[in-house]
Amino acid sequence: MLRDETKLRAYFADAPDDISLDDVDITRIPSHVSFIMDGNGRWAQARGLDRSRGHVAGVDSLRETVTTSVRLGVDVLSAYAFSTENWKRPQREVNLLMHLFATTLVKELPLFHQENVRLKFLGDLDALPKETRDVFQRGLDETASYDGMTFALAVNYGSRAEIARAARLIAEEVAAGTMRPEDVDVEAVSQRLYTAGLPDPDLLVRTSGELRLSNYLLWQLAYTEMYVTDLYWPDFNRWEYLRAIRAFQGRGRRYGGVVNA
Ligand code: IPE
Ligand code: IPE
Ligand code: MG
Repeated sequence: MLRDETKLRAYFADAPDDISLDDVDITRIPSHVSFIMDGNGRWAQARGLDRSRGHVAGVDSLRETVTTSVRLGVDVLSAYAFSTENWKRPQREVNLLMHLFATTLVKELPLFHQENVRLKFLGDLDALPKETRDVFQRGLDETASYDGMTFALAVNYGSRAEIARAARLIAEEVAAGTMRPEDVDVEAVSQRLYTAGLPDPDLLVRTSGELRLSNYLLWQLAYTEMYVTDLYWPDFNRWEYLRAIRAFQGRGRRYGGVVNA
């Protein structure tokens, strides 16, 4: 994606000693960067605060991550905000998160307008409270024509449910006679996932040190490079983002092939 080099330099001006924009090749920025935003609760608990304060602090990290992605020229940013398993949490925390999603989106919509960001959601939105659903729909409507970065937020998202849904959609088409069984291939499945039309992630970042996928993009992450930092999500910032990109750029991606064949 096109990036404004002046804005980019200014954005990364006050570099700490051990990482700067010069440490990454800005002509090789990953096209799709995805985040498992984890550790909000532990961030708060470590400070003697209620877990909810961690979620509120996490919003600031997400805002900075959106801006950093735009400045770097990332094409697609995706982030895991609420899983199909997160409904197991105490009702109070679930309610707070749903309300936080709605109020945050209303507040942050100007940023999407300003930066030409198109919003997308991954997951089953029908199960969300009406307040949240309505605001999400407004966000989709207001940004539908934007052609800058795509920001895909996974809410009530679970990869297994997503793949089962794709299988169901295909089964229905086959049963209706509009699709033949021999037409069911990788592309046909991909087109029926929530991520249809988006490239697979190049880089997956997970915060809080957990070495698992937690039911996130199981299909789409087949050849994604992974980067895990021990930092909790509220402590993630533009410099940590640069560290992840530097690590990504040091990887040799082979996709099952051989180098220098
Ligand atoms: C991630 O932080 C945010 C959501 C899953 C909504 P957590 O709430 O999972 O925080 P920890 O992992 O318990 O610290
Ligand atoms: C993954 O985090 C889901 C999100 C970040 C939204 P969890 O905190 O729910 O994952 P587990 O329970 O540690 O695997
Ligand atoms: Mg967690």
